[in-house]
Amino acid sequence: MRIFICGFGTVGQGFAEVLHDRKEFLSKRFGDDAAIVGAMDSKSYVYDPAGLDPLGLVSTKRDSGRVGASAYADSTKVLSEADYDVLVEVSPTDVKTGGVGLKNIVCALEHKKDVITVNKGPLALKYRDLMDLAKKNDCLLRFEGSVGGAMPIINLCTEDLMGEKIISIRGIFNGTCNYILSKMDKGQPFDQALKEAQQLGYAETDPTNDIEGYDSACKVAILANSVFGRNVTFDDVKITGITSITDEAVAMAASRNMVIRLIGEVTDTKLEVGPRLIPKGHPLSISGTLNTAQILTDMAGPVTVSGRGAGRKETASAILSDLIAIMDKRHRADEQDLPLRYHPQGRRPDGRGVVLLQGQGRDTEEARRLRDGLR
Ligand code: HSE
Repeated sequence: MRIFICGFGTVGQGFAEVLHDRKEFLSKRFGDDAAIVGAMDSKSYVYDPAGLDPLGLVSTKRDSGRVGASAYADSTKVLSEADYDVLVEVSPTDVKTGGVGLKNIVCALEHKKDVITVNKGPLALKYRDLMDLAKKNDCLLRFEGSVGGAMPIINLCTEDLMGEKIISIRGIFNGTCNYILSKMDKGQPFDQALKEAQQLGYAETDPTNDIEGYDSACKVAILANSVFGRNVTFDDVKITGITSITDEAVAMAASRNMVIRLIGEVTDTKLEVGPRLIPKGHPLSISGTLNTAQILTDMAGPVTVSGRGAGRKETASAILSDLIAIMDKRHRADEQDLPLRYHPQGRRPDGRGVVLLQGQGRDTEEARRLRDGLR
């Protein structure tokens, strides 16, 4: 599986490290090396169809501030000419236009590449168009890390809870705001808490997106589209941020055994982000940078998840889960399309990757024996 990474900041670098870390697992599970063949940041790119050293990319970026020696004027030109299977699009979010991330995703899908992204702008603005384009080109577009970072939510709702009717999702989807509000609970001023959240690397490049509720609104729109099958954009979300929450309001909530939290809420008809009073001890009263969500289902009842909403390895772990899902799907497709045969040298006839065992969905004794022997 050949991967091109667009965006080589914290998340892109984290993903390269995670890929290095899980290299052996991936090649054991799939008999296929997941190799980075290209990486691009805002100034430069590097491309080598033979594969690039993930840790080498990280150290080049750290030492020189650039991931590659080549400059570019148009990222989509580079992507159009490169040969790869999956685009990992992790460039900075642009909530207003979708930015370069949107162009990169469209370009990859048009060239029939699968896409993994955590870039919220394109998904919150053009979700339906992107999914239609992916379908038309028989591509997979996955985006688990775009909502809640490492907290599993999208694939949980669309895959594990597939048979449920999901009635509502209410949650804390912005670690920066939750950090600020938790610190205000303890008497710390807003500005100081924001500065700390920025130092922790949680806040967006422009923290206005966090504190005005725009980041949460993107996530709410993504959930509405992907889980509820709605056709909404960021502009449809009713948004109130946390900038007008005073120390007095926080103290008054505390005197009633409550806390104020920025809550995103999605139902079939509702689409809101705003500060809410939450009783202390309620799952949505959590403190710090954690994200959490309560998914209300018709059969299973409430399902609550919680996890780290951002971070280098944390977000990269969500990208890895999408990559595994894509590799799983593509390998199964291979199994269905090709007759059963074993490649002792581990090379596919088309040379595209390494597959040790392929079949026609027939799990014969021999197939099982061979596969087990290879694990
Ligand atoms: N700025 C976001 C947050 C990062 O604070 O949660 C993840 O989207």
